[in-house]
Amino acid sequence: MPGRPLQVISPAPFDQMMSPSSQSVLFFFLGGIIMFMIMLILALVFWRVIKPADLKKLVKQARRRPANTDFFSGNLRTISLFDFQTLKRATKNFDPSNLLGRGGFGPVFRGKLDDGRMIAVKKLSLNKSQQGEPEFLAEVRMITSIQHKNLVRLLGCCSDGPQRLLVYEYLKNRSLDLIIYGKNDHFLNWSTRYQIIIGVARGLQYLHQDSPLRIIHRDIKASNILLDDKFQPRIGDFGLARFFPEDEAYLSTTFAGTLGYSAPEYAIRGELSEKADIYSFGVLVIEIISCRRNTDLNLPSEMQYLPEYAWKLYEKSKVLDLIDPRMREDGFLEKDVLQAIHVAFLCLQPDPDLRPPMSHIVTMLTSSADMFGAPVKPAFLDRKRNRDENPSCDTISEPFPSPLQSDSSSLPKQPN
Ligand SMILES: Nc1ncnc2c1ncn2[C@@H]1O[C@H](COP(=O)(O)OP(=O)(O)OP(=O)(O)O)[C@@H](O)[C@H]1O
Ligand SMILES: [Mg+2]
Repeated sequence: MPGRPLQVISPAPFDQMMSPSSQSVLFFFLGGIIMFMIMLILALVFWRVIKPADLKKLVKQARRRPANTDFFSGNLRTISLFDFQTLKRATKNFDPSNLLGRGGFGPVFRGKLDDGRMIAVKKLSLNKSQQGEPEFLAEVRMITSIQHKNLVRLLGCCSDGPQRLLVYEYLKNRSLDLIIYGKNDHFLNWSTRYQIIIGVARGLQYLHQDSPLRIIHRDIKASNILLDDKFQPRIGDFGLARFFPEDEAYLSTTFAGTLGYSAPEYAIRGELSEKADIYSFGVLVIEIISCRRNTDLNLPSEMQYLPEYAWKLYEKSKVLDLIDPRMREDGFLEKDVLQAIHVAFLCLQPDPDLRPPMSHIVTMLTSSADMFGAPVKPAFLDRKRNRDENPSCDTISEPFPSPLQSDSSSLPKQPN
């Protein structure tokens, strides 16, 4: 009997055994199980590595982040953006009890951040700073990149609608004007004063010559010298002019208080260079030594203008009479004081080219070598003619002798 050919029955392929609908159910089911296992393993790992307490901290930080958002641009330093609510909280809603002072650019408030850091918040006055947000942030980024131990640190900023605020580190001993103009009773001995003079000179040298940007401060004065807890000086408000459109600050009455520090060529013609800062530094040095304002119309007329008075004493070889009487009682190093006064006179030279650069000034103040040229009579602004008027070009009466006219051989000898 012929055998029946063997029929090989191959099993139907898996996909043919099941209907398409039951296949997709199976895929979803298996996929779900695999996903669940992966999640479980991840959760276990996460739980073992990060403790619940840490987790809480992370959540808190994430919530706080918008208050202090770091951002980065190019190779410049990271800056912090503070939100307005944070600064409001830190300053107790800009409470008047936290008002540190009010300058030409707006009020400054003391504040305390949630992490305990003390800050000084400068609210830029709206009518003056017309900058848009991108320009403002670009300027902040520039200034934040300028750092030196004798410059106040800009911690960050806030831009909220039209508001522009700058956040600085808070300096415990506030500004030098409060001490030297007798607004508080603190007495500075000679070595602290000398340390302040040298520190300011180093800060200025950095701004003018060593920083990545060339910065002319434009407003060197006692209220812009802040003092840390060890009375080390830090120059404040550098770069502030960058936030304001080119103005005629040198002619503005807002800056009248600063006029006694202004170099004549800047005050009269608006000629601005590092030498204008150097002139202001010279005025500041004499203020620190004598502990008085550069202009005081309550004093006898020959004493009203400090650079003029200092020069008169110098001509009579009595320049040490300039010294703050309390410092005289406490004791001082005569050689150092004379050296500082001599440097100040060089800074006050009428011709900007004759004023030494800050690097020379630092060397003169810190070395014992006698490397000084003889100063000529300082130039200064004289407001005697129109006391009731705000100072302007018309009221500046002091002639500015040409350096060619000045005969340094006829100068009195520097007292020893
Ligand atoms: N970082 C700071 N730490 C502590 N006190 C500060 C700080 N910055 C400013 N101050 C205080 O706030 C006061 C006001 O400062 P502000 O710079 O507004 O005014 P100013 O220096 O008198 O004038 P200007 O606007 O011409 O600089 C200062 O005199 C100083 O006492
Ligand atoms: Mg200031």
